Amino acid sequence: MDLYPPTGLARRRHLLSIGDLERADVERILETAEGFESVMHRDVKKVPTLRGRTVMNVFFESSTRTSSSFELAAKRLSADTVNLKASGSSVDKGESLKDTVLTLSAYDPDVIVIRHPQAGAPALVTRHTDAHVVNAGDGKHQHPTQSLLDLYTIRKALGQVEGLQVAIVGDVLHSRVARSNIQALRLLGAEVLLVGPPALIPRDAAAAMGVTVSYDIGDIAEADVVYVLRMQRERMLEGANYVPSLTEYSALWGVTPERVQPSQLVMHPGPINRGVEIAAEVADSASSRIVDQVRAGLVTRMAVLYDLLTEPTTRGGQAALRAVEPAGQEVA
Ligand code: NCD
Repeated sequence: MDLYPPTGLARRRHLLSIGDLERADVERILETAEGFESVMHRDVKKVPTLRGRTVMNVFFESSTRTSSSFELAAKRLSADTVNLKASGSSVDKGESLKDTVLTLSAYDPDVIVIRHPQAGAPALVTRHTDAHVVNAGDGKHQHPTQSLLDLYTIRKALGQVEGLQVAIVGDVLHSRVARSNIQALRLLGAEVLLVGPPALIPRDAAAAMGVTVSYDIGDIAEADVVYVLRMQRERMLEGANYVPSLTEYSALWGVTPERVQPSQLVMHPGPINRGVEIAAEVADSASSRIVDQVRAGLVTRMAVLYDLLTEPTTRGGQAALRAVEPAGQEVA
């Protein structure tokens, strides 16, 4: 019998979906992330916590925020990192996902972070490696670390998530962020309203997930948080007309200054398309938390790596703080 069975993410071994987490897991990860904030304010922003561990970031789809923050998160915890992009790797030469994973696993990584255009790819990776696997976005399916950083951002701005009303506006149909965030927000007790064109809001799925739907942008007025989504044109079926035109989309569902109040928080996972789903004035306004979200991505992903790779007895917010103290422990 294992006297010290792993807990939290280490017990689950992987973070593939928000559905893998219980509320206590989410709370612990957010607390740990908060513990790591103190490291961000030092001159030397690095702690030895994951020294000798290896994190591989494997991105088969474009990414700016997610890939840079996972890389930096691993480096700030002193892990060794390998960053592989599909283009420029042997994937260009026809190597399959399975063979890519078998190859990378020969180096005994502790964590493989993977983004892939196909839903379910991270689950497939778990079958061919001993490493912990973290889903950094798979097709339209899930993007769990985006949700954790969004919860972190909301909690920091408004104190708590419980009882809030969050309006998710735009292309819900093609959005893995929407799927993860609906689950994550509901898990922490928020109410979710989906707003957008009928063709981009899957009504049955919404009902099954316990959220309400509106096709009227005016209904975002009641929300504490307005969460804007990009039109995911790369995932739309060729020839399908989900909206008459982008101009019409902006006119009917764009988040413009007249449609948000100063008391509302505006969020967006990025990349933003100014003038399409969100007006530039809104993106740059005091209500916008878009840059805070990016910053939260770093400490939240540090917390996820930490939660996967450390002993149960050293886990949690206070433990994370202890792990980064005393300040003298920084390594170059
Ligand atoms: C999102 C993604 O890739 O799913 N972006 C991100 O991770 N920051 C959303 C998007 O691409 O629109």
